[in-house]
Amino acid sequence: MHPETLAARFHEVFGAHATFLARAPGRVNLIGEHTDYNEGFVLPMAIEREVRLVGRPREDDWVRLYSLNFEEHAAFQLSGLHASDVPSWADYCKGVAWAMQEAGHTLRGFEAVIHGDIPIGSGLSSSAALELAMVMAFQASTPALQLAPSSAASLAHRAESGFVGVRCGIMDQMIAALGVKGHALFIDCRTLAHETVPLPEGVAVVIIDTGAPRSLASSAYNERRAECESAAALLGVPALRDLTTEEFEAQRAVLPPLLTQRAEHVVRENARVLEAVEAMRAGDVQRLGALMTASHESLRDLFEVSSPALDAAVAIALSTPGVYGARMTGAGFGGCAIALVDEAQVSMLATRIQFEYPRRTGLTPKVFVSNANEGASWEKLTPPNTAPTHRAIAAHHPSVEPPLCAERGEAILREIPDAESPRWWWCRDKHGRRGRVHEHFFEEEDYRFVLRDDFCAQELPLVEGERVRLLEAYDGWALVENAHGERGWVPARVLVSLTSEG
Ligand code: GLA
Repeated sequence: MHPETLAARFHEVFGAHATFLARAPGRVNLIGEHTDYNEGFVLPMAIEREVRLVGRPREDDWVRLYSLNFEEHAAFQLSGLHASDVPSWADYCKGVAWAMQEAGHTLRGFEAVIHGDIPIGSGLSSSAALELAMVMAFQASTPALQLAPSSAASLAHRAESGFVGVRCGIMDQMIAALGVKGHALFIDCRTLAHETVPLPEGVAVVIIDTGAPRSLASSAYNERRAECESAAALLGVPALRDLTTEEFEAQRAVLPPLLTQRAEHVVRENARVLEAVEAMRAGDVQRLGALMTASHESLRDLFEVSSPALDAAVAIALSTPGVYGARMTGAGFGGCAIALVDEAQVSMLATRIQFEYPRRTGLTPKVFVSNANEGASWEKLTPPNTAPTHRAIAAHHPSVEPPLCAERGEAILREIPDAESPRWWWCRDKHGRRGRVHEHFFEEEDYRFVLRDDFCAQELPLVEGERVRLLEAYDGWALVENAHGERGWVPARVLVSLTSEG
């Protein structure tokens, strides 16, 4: 949500003008999975989806928050903090206040509205983003409090492990704090030394949300950690990070079969990260892609944290022309996969996922592309902010009208969701015409938004057996081109077969 809209919502909720914006991004990990808590190497990048918090300092030690995602208030005093009986988003916020005070910082209260567009529970680290946005908000509210980004990351990590009770590694907080535009971040999770690595030209990172949620606090994550710790102990090293592939091979017989598998993944994954950094620096996208795919196979077969949904997303990606590599990202057990793809083939990949994935899994995917984003930051806002005027919501129009024709950059009014296809909205354009637009094309999650792409086309009449080229597909509608070059939308169910060439 745009900062101005957030400031307007802050005004509605708290009756005052906001003075700061604090923000932090989600992340994907390009390679180096389940290595951070083994004190090894990771290579994540911050994504353009963020948690944003707009607010103003208070004179007392109360923190008052309103989450626009959950439509829920939370308030706590900085002294005597304890987690809620029922786990809540507010625990991450309280945890940050707890960790910062435990480290000796004197904090001042604040009030804020929070909004995030990182899908929650999808493995894109919305919780680390919330934690870092909170650290930034405390910095914005407390004069003279200035933290180095890696200290901010450590405090956020302490909040999650010491207060919320999730024994995660440090990767998510490090990248949310230290991300750099256009770059991934190579992190040594033992020393926290880090280096930026530029993303190769001409390729895109496509994120595929499998729509199958995962629970990080789930026993499986802690089980894997414990297995890695046991393996390290049996091999006589402080952490699995301390073994090279050769050293591990020489000693593998020491371990029982399950621990051999787990340790093999970690040791080889660390080596793959180092190789991936070299490949990126050399602009070798083929090699980088192959390493990513090998990482997926290892997570699936040796570490056993993939899932049928993740495997399906990866398999579809890998069978699409222009895809160099694909893998699950994050803890696994559901959540998101990523693919490294030639920029020119992004929409082909998105289209294939939209079609094939629901057929294979019965689940609805979300596909989006992200550039590498900046790490957490805060800035002053200049009041007053005027609230935008929202037009009244119009009545539902149960017609079969085709999608609205509108141009990139055009501001149009979103009215109501289509009752039959929830991700399509009835909208009005600047001439007052009404039509449907898929939510994919919304730049802002607000009633007024700007189209980020041309949303051309009417419905295209087809005759049985006619061959068309598939251009895009969203929730039951496909944009196609016929032999005469005419483009239009058709209900996807009328298309009987699909090949990757279209
Ligand atoms: C989660 C944790 C991270 C890391 C990954 C697996 O995202 O929060 O610390 O362990 O899983 O690589």
